[in-house]
Amino acid sequence: MEKTAVIGDRNACAQLPPYQVSDDILVPDYLEQTYWWAYLHPNAVRFFERQWLVNLILWGNFASLRDAALEEMGTEVTGRILQVACVYGDFTQQLARRLAPDSSLDVVDVAPVQLENVSAKVKEYPNVFLHHQDSTYLEFADAAYDSSVVFFLLHEQPADARAQTICEALRVTKPGGKVVFVDYHRPNLTNPFRYVMVPILSTLEPFAMELWEKDIIDWVPEQLRPRQVRKETFFGELYQKVVMVP
Ligand SMILES: C[S@@+](CC[C@H](N)C(=O)[O-])C[C@H]1O[C@@H](n2cnc3c(N)ncnc32)[C@H](O)[C@@H]1O
Repeated sequence: MEKTAVIGDRNACAQLPPYQVSDDILVPDYLEQTYWWAYLHPNAVRFFERQWLVNLILWGNFASLRDAALEEMGTEVTGRILQVACVYGDFTQQLARRLAPDSSLDVVDVAPVQLENVSAKVKEYPNVFLHHQDSTYLEFADAAYDSSVVFFLLHEQPADARAQTICEALRVTKPGGKVVFVDYHRPNLTNPFRYVMVPILSTLEPFAMELWEKDIIDWVPEQLRPRQVRKETFFGELYQKVVMVP
């Protein structure tokens, strides 16, 4: 039976958006073993939750990559929107700011400490809802969302979890809607970051180099292929935005 505990009750706790933490949703091994220092420890969250730092990690490209993702969703974002996994910095607030009054944003994350962190960032937005869920097994109905966005999650996941995340984002997004992925990509030969990033990613982000080897669409099985796929690269091809229309 699912066990839940309510954290951040909107009425009881300084107007923070509520969410439920389920004991049945476990932190994946790759997150615990590889990324505990970035996402799980409360001190890590306090350390990384700095706009300048997330911008530095992306070599000054945070705002342009964020805006590239948001522009896909429109200057005014309408309908039901899904953000798969929290993001340090102001990604979620900027998305929330664009929401039309009758629209909504659901944000999922598998780490309760991340939900707690994002909850403080979106407390002014009554149409933002937080969910303790695993991206590889979303609890939403098929075609429930008009658009979904997955910002720098795929490179952190081993291939099987990555494939499952992509398929889940496609499943919960309506036919004709958009799934927007922003992530790493193989830089071109003249980009010095091609050489700088190899030791960094190989040491700190062991699954990331897989995004240099394959296109995101390659993790989608033939029978689930979206009707449209569009890819754009940035910063000498170190980053990519891929938009899939299911
Ligand atoms: C989107 S990624 C990284 C984004 C970016 N590097 C940043 O600056 O935050 C990080 C988030 O993904 C979450 N995450 C990792 N695996 C997940 C999964 N299987 N399901 C849901 N969230 C997951 C982590 O808990 C973390 O909050």
